[in-house]
Amino acid sequence: MTQIKNIGLFTSGGDAPGMNAAIRAVVRSAIYYNIGVTGIRRGFEGMINGDMFPMGIKSVSNIIQRGGTILKTARSEKFKTVAGRKAAYGQLVKNNIDALIAIGGDGTFRGAKEFNQEFDIPIIGLPGTIDNDLCGTDFTIGYDTAINTVINAVDKIRDTAESHNRLFIVEVMGRDSGLIALRTGIAAGAETIMIPEGNTDIQALFDRLENGRPDKTSKIIMLAENGKVGDAFEVGRLVKERFPNHDTRVSILGHIQRGGSPTCMDRVLASRTGVAAVEALIAGKKNVMVGLVHNQIAFTPFENATKHVTELDPDFLKIVEMLSI
Ligand code: F6P
Repeated sequence: MTQIKNIGLFTSGGDAPGMNAAIRAVVRSAIYYNIGVTGIRRGFEGMINGDMFPMGIKSVSNIIQRGGTILKTARSEKFKTVAGRKAAYGQLVKNNIDALIAIGGDGTFRGAKEFNQEFDIPIIGLPGTIDNDLCGTDFTIGYDTAINTVINAVDKIRDTAESHNRLFIVEVMGRDSGLIALRTGIAAGAETIMIPEGNTDIQALFDRLENGRPDKTSKIIMLAENGKVGDAFEVGRLVKERFPNHDTRVSILGHIQRGGSPTCMDRVLASRTGVAAVEALIAGKKNVMVGLVHNQIAFTPFENATKHVTELDPDFLKIVEMLSI
C-alpha cells in the first residue's frame, strides 16, 4: 500500500464523451478514500503552466451527462521537450501532487510513460478517445457515444439517399483506425466499408458497385479517414468518373462525432475505470492503463496499450458483405 495524498487529474488529446463521467468518478472515489484531487486544466499544457485547482465533491456535480471535458484539453507540443516536462514536474511538486491520473488516448500515454521514466511519479491512465484504438480494453470511453452519433447521422443521410436514389460516401473519424467505420458500417447497413486496416482498394469498391443488385435505391459507402485511396472527396470523384449514372454525394461527419451527452455504456465504463484507477494508485500500481476486458477490470502497461490495433475481426467485414446483398 502506498500513501497517496493528492492526485493530479487531467484530460488530454481529443475530447471524448464520458470524460466528465470519468472525472467525477475519480474525484468522488478519491474523496471516499480520503485522498485529495487537484484538477489540471488543458492536459500537459496546463501542467506546465501550473493551471491547477483543488476539486471537491461539488466540483463534479451535474457533469456525468455532459459531453466534452470540464478540465478542458489540449495537445501539448511543449511537453514533448525535456524543458517542458521539467517545468511540469516543478509545478506538481509546488502543488503537492504525488500521483497522476491521465484520461486520454495514445499520445497521452506515450507522454505519461516518458514522464514517469524521468521523474518516477506514479501515473494511471484511463482510455478516453472516440477512436477505440487502444489495446487492453474492449472499448474506450467515448467510442460508444461516437458510433451512436454516427448511425443517427447516417440514418438521416439514408432518408435523402433513399428519396433521391443516391449513393453516399460517408467519411467518419478514427485517426489511423477503422474501428468507428467498421461497427457503424454494419449498424447502418453500408454497402461496403473502406478502412485503413482493410484491403478495400478502389477496384474492390468498383467491383462491389458493379456486381451489386441493380434495383437498390440507396447506397452508403462507409469510409474511415486516412484511408489508402484518399479522403471522401477523392473517393467520390473516382466513383463519379467510373459510374457517371450514379447520383453520388459526399458527407464528412467530422467533429459532431466527438460531442454530445455520453451513452449509458460510456458513463458506466468511465465510472468503473475511474474508481479502479484510484484504487490502483492506492494499491501501488503505476504506468498502467485501466480498461475493461471481457467486462472485467484489466491493467495494461502504457507501452502495450499504445500498440495500435492493426488486425480487425475479419468476421465483421464478412458480415457487411453478406448482409448488403
Ligand atoms: O483522436 C480523436 C480524433 O477525433 C480522431 O478521430 C481524429 O483524427 C482527430 O482526433 C482529429 O483531431 P483534431 O480535433 O485535433 O482535428
